[in-house]
Amino acid sequence: MITVIGSLNMDLVIEMAYFPQQGETVLGDQFQTSPGGKGANQAIAAARLGSEVTMIGCVGNDSFGDTLRTALAQEHINTKSLITTSQPTGIANILVHDQDNRIIVVPGANYQLEPAHIEAVKDVISRSQMVILQLEIPKETIAYALKLCKEAHVPVLLNPAPAANFDMQWMEDIAYITPNEIECAQLFGDDVDRILEKYPNKLIITLGSDGARYFDGEYPIHVPGYMTKAVDTTGAGDTFNGALAYALVEGQTLDEAVYFANIAASLTVEKLGAQSGMPTLSQVYARMAGFDEE
Ligand code: RIB
Repeated sequence: MITVIGSLNMDLVIEMAYFPQQGETVLGDQFQTSPGGKGANQAIAAARLGSEVTMIGCVGNDSFGDTLRTALAQEHINTKSLITTSQPTGIANILVHDQDNRIIVVPGANYQLEPAHIEAVKDVISRSQMVILQLEIPKETIAYALKLCKEAHVPVLLNPAPAANFDMQWMEDIAYITPNEIECAQLFGDDVDRILEKYPNKLIITLGSDGARYFDGEYPIHVPGYMTKAVDTTGAGDTFNGALAYALVEGQTLDEAVYFANIAASLTVEKLGAQSGMPTLSQVYARMAGFDEE
């Protein structure tokens, strides 16, 4: 069983011909709301592949919160430990243009998740084969979750986004950390080869369509990505993380798991919205075998 501790947001997605400059007003092409949040996205990515998943997080007492709960329940994710708070459900304003995006998150209810809530689900954590964390919830809550995972010997996969919320002291309590290139530079500086060697089989840098890099203790490893036509890259990193957790829990080697996660992420970017394109297991294996399911 995989437990995800993290954020749930309603994504307010605008497709546009070009991003506005400061002080400029532009017309967008399309608008849609769709379930998101790095925590919920990673939970759905793992569940859709076949993992048993429990989601820990907070939503508001509002229609966005209801929609996000339903989206998780439809994927058979255990939502019994989701908390409804007095703060509004978190939102993410996502501007999509030319296969790229810009995101502003207003955490709202996500910042109501406290260490006491994590303590209350201690048993769930200790029964987990892996815990996935991201950084859209309060730092003290992340620190407390890491403490409980360490005590229970549960491996943690931490996706350091947004990177500004990361605490370097956490490195020794994390089994896997998965920054993208920008987050990696923010956290560790620009000497990528040196930093990869410092954290063998732990630091996995995601490179978008170029795949991912890590150091296996002896050699630098580059696992290539799968080239595809991207419609919306939102949720690609989340799919990578959910799929990586799925594959590692299933007993795949790190090399196999990173390849599997790359393929899963490539399928996600072909659809608009963070969760809509997340693949099933058979879709991932079909692409690995060289054909795509209809
Ligand atoms: O990683 C993509 C996610 O980041 C979006 O779904 C948005 O909600 C933000 O949390």
